[in-house]
Amino acid sequence: MSAGADLSTPAYSPRRGSAETILLSVEDVRGGYGEVDILNGVSLNLRSGEIVTVAGTNGAGKSTLAKAIMGLLPRVSGRILFEGADVLGLPTEDRAGRGVGYVPQVANVFSALSVLENLQVVAGVNNKRLRIAELLEAFPLLAERRRARAGSLSGGERQQLAFARALMTSPRLMILDEPTAALSPAKVAEAFALIARLPSLGVSVLAVEQRARQCLAISQRGYILDGGMVAIEGEAAMLLADEQAAELYLGRTAKPQL
Ligand SMILES: Nc1ncnc2c1ncn2[C@@H]1O[C@H](COP(=O)(O)OP(=O)(O)O)[C@@H](O)[C@H]1O
Ligand SMILES: [Mg+2]
Repeated sequence: MSAGADLSTPAYSPRRGSAETILLSVEDVRGGYGEVDILNGVSLNLRSGEIVTVAGTNGAGKSTLAKAIMGLLPRVSGRILFEGADVLGLPTEDRAGRGVGYVPQVANVFSALSVLENLQVVAGVNNKRLRIAELLEAFPLLAERRRARAGSLSGGERQQLAFARALMTSPRLMILDEPTAALSPAKVAEAFALIARLPSLGVSVLAVEQRARQCLAISQRGYILDGGMVAIEGEAAMLLADEQAAELYLGRTAKPQL
């Protein structure tokens, strides 16, 4: 895969039919793990076919927001609409069942199981054999390593397996928490190229990323969180050019590493 080419040409096409459909709408979401609010009224949305970046410094609340959307945060208020239905009161597995996939910050694979077994144990898949065959075709690296224990995979392979696991249930939205954090620098561009491909597979993406510039380069829009609130939001190109965003959040001197 030629990662450089993919990254410099955003996959987004405004003509894609469903691009104006709001898939996810987070409205004034507040909440946290205990008494203290970590999220202080976050609102964001994502249209079908989009890749949207959530950036912000360490501790800004990015992972907490991802957990709130997945139903993994103990205390939440506000509204979280997925395909128009409020899922805020639903348990995590029901949100997954409706089409929300999630890859947590620590790659979600079973080290002791083989690649194939990691896919086989995913629950709630209709035609598992067919889905596994499709995913092994989409991830040739995993097909090659299908008998290998997940614990023996490289960081990049493990990341692909975590993606493939999340894709087993054919989600329409994937929430990726720091998808490139555990990767060697050489694998980062490859991971972003893979993420950039997801909309063409029918999967929209909400990506939490420290590497905000690189993630914005494959995104249509972005939100920058600060103190559990949205500090700046807008088109990805606008954020990349925004002096204030650059100064405060994106690393002023860092050039996008495409
Ligand atoms: N499990 C937890 N219990 C209590 N506080 C937490 C927990 N996880 C994160 N926090 C706190 O929530 C805040 C936001 O954390 P987090 O959402 O992980 O930030 P980010 O992902 O943007 O780095 C931080 O102050 C952090 O200490
Ligand atoms: Mg985090």
